[in-house]
Amino acid sequence: LNYRVPRTRRDILQTLIKGLQRLEYRGYDSAGVAVDGSGKDNAVNISLYKKTGKVKALDEEIYKNNSIDFEAELDTHFGIAHTRWATHGEPSPVNSHPHRSDKNNEFVVIHNGIITNYKELKKYLVSKGYEFESDTDTEVIPKLIKYLYDNRENEYVSFSTLVERVIKQLEGAFALVFKSIHFPGVAVATRRGSPLLIGVRSQYELSTEQIPVQYNCGDSRTNEQENNLLNRRGSTNALHSVDDRLAVEFYLASDASAIIEHTNKVIYLEDDDVAVVMEGKLYVHRIKRKAGEDPVRVIQTLQMELQQIMKVILGGLSDHLKEIKRCRRLILIGCGTSYHAGVATRQILEELTELPVMVELASDFLDRITPVFRDDVCFFISQSGETADTLMALRYCKQRGALTVGVTNTVGSSICRETDCGVHINAGPEVGVASTKAYTSQFVSLIMFALMLSEDRLSMQPRRLEIINGLKKLPELIKEVLALDDQIKSIADELHHQRSLLVMGRGYNYSTCLEGALKIKEITYMHSEGIMAGELKHGPLALIDKHMPVIMIIMRDACYQKCHNALQQVTARQGRPIILCCQDDPEISKLAYKTIELPHTVDCLQGILSVIPLQLISFHLAVLRGYDVDCPRNLAKSVTVE
Ligand code: G6P
Repeated sequence: LNYRVPRTRRDILQTLIKGLQRLEYRGYDSAGVAVDGSGKDNAVNISLYKKTGKVKALDEEIYKNNSIDFEAELDTHFGIAHTRWATHGEPSPVNSHPHRSDKNNEFVVIHNGIITNYKELKKYLVSKGYEFESDTDTEVIPKLIKYLYDNRENEYVSFSTLVERVIKQLEGAFALVFKSIHFPGVAVATRRGSPLLIGVRSQYELSTEQIPVQYNCGDSRTNEQENNLLNRRGSTNALHSVDDRLAVEFYLASDASAIIEHTNKVIYLEDDDVAVVMEGKLYVHRIKRKAGEDPVRVIQTLQMELQQIMKVILGGLSDHLKEIKRCRRLILIGCGTSYHAGVATRQILEELTELPVMVELASDFLDRITPVFRDDVCFFISQSGETADTLMALRYCKQRGALTVGVTNTVGSSICRETDCGVHINAGPEVGVASTKAYTSQFVSLIMFALMLSEDRLSMQPRRLEIINGLKKLPELIKEVLALDDQIKSIADELHHQRSLLVMGRGYNYSTCLEGALKIKEITYMHSEGIMAGELKHGPLALIDKHMPVIMIIMRDACYQKCHNALQQVTARQGRPIILCCQDDPEISKLAYKTIELPHTVDCLQGILSVIPLQLISFHLAVLRGYDVDCPRNLAKSVTVE
């Protein structure tokens, strides 16, 4: 939202589109945008553009429309845009955001999250004569705000009050931004359970104190201010005397990556904050103010070195090390690939800490209402730091008094901010939906945590040293594995017409089976299953014949002999396994249909190497099958709904 920084409509649209492209990893089913005025006269109306598919398709769609004056300069202008990952209703233009109150686009809204009581609200609004055009949960929001606006009788109701009244009726999770022709140039945003931040940029270098933000404890002052300004305004396009030095642009977004190119000054909103941008100023107030609550939100500068931010936001682990060492149990919680990083490191954590370690899928952990105690240390592993299931599990553990540790890749994410301490894995932005480098970094971080916790244990020193030396050599060994790409591609060539692919292993490499199978499912759409080799004889063996493609992981570790037994059970049923094994293992090679020979490392680090061929196989399979490797159908990078 720009105030007195003249920009053409083309500039505004390009800013919005670019921001969406930065967020595209969050969803790419469809995208949409709403900006002021469509005609050359700049009349107060709102133009909506929506398109199925990627943001690029939306961009093209907008410029096909030649009734718009793209070069018109606007002094006060406010646009919203959204990229969708479908929860309710198929991907289609009508189901994509922004959603609108009516055909005149009186109120439009974008929503990140899920409204769980939308059916009741919809029923009520339909009974009041509102017609719905989409199948989404979100559409109840613009309809409801219009209903409240239309029924305000003679009372003057500010935009933010209307929004507050709307969200009082909503259940579920949301970050919302509203725009309305009745309140031109005013943006109202709020959140509950979904992230929302506001970037502030000025043409001039403003100190934090100069940023025009005003915090109120309740809504009365904001309302009053909004009333006065709007009453004074009279004509909707009027400008008011705000000091030119304070001419600022505000960027509201779900995460900093969408706005970092414009500004590094960021305010993170908390649940039940309402933010109003109006007349070049930002007003933030709390809906429900608890006694003693501080409504002031720190303006963070995201320009610092990552290392510095890490210290500021996550607080590191060192301050809490004593407490962690006193704990009775470690619980590792995550979803998808992040969960697999927990599976991969459980055994070495158990060995080095001698503590019971539970590894939990966040959703199941919550479903079971798992007992958690004050002397538990709970790890929340999440690349994005925003996964709703993991975030809910974090809040659940916090309530029960456990110490919470974040292992995330996203500075300033909800999980970073809400955990007591943590590790920033510094893998760099991971844009492809299927996680790869974040997995490796989560894996290494958790190993380092195990090393840290066992630092002062004399009996553990030889083992620790072995692992530390192993870690130092990993980069070289990873290069060796990557050099096998041609061989792996030729295996993919052979497999790409298959419907199914089993991945089998045990011990330290079981996580590789789960993660490899997940990569195959995610990007190749082949059926794939990660099988614990110890369970082979309890069921999966029935799947084996000469046609079923099987990948087995058999490395020289404590499970070697047992894996060898599984291999024989497979070959005895005419199975033709492709085997990931150590270099120079003739025993294995002679039973294999094909082998991929990997360099040997310390047992607990082997998974970092063994996952690479599976990541590469899934990559080549996806390419050969003609799929978009970065953006698999139906999946989103950051799943902010439960
Ligand atoms: C989504 C992604 C997965 C990811 C999982 C957990 O399902 O598609 O690739 O592993 O979320 O994400 P997180 O950001 O919490 O690690």
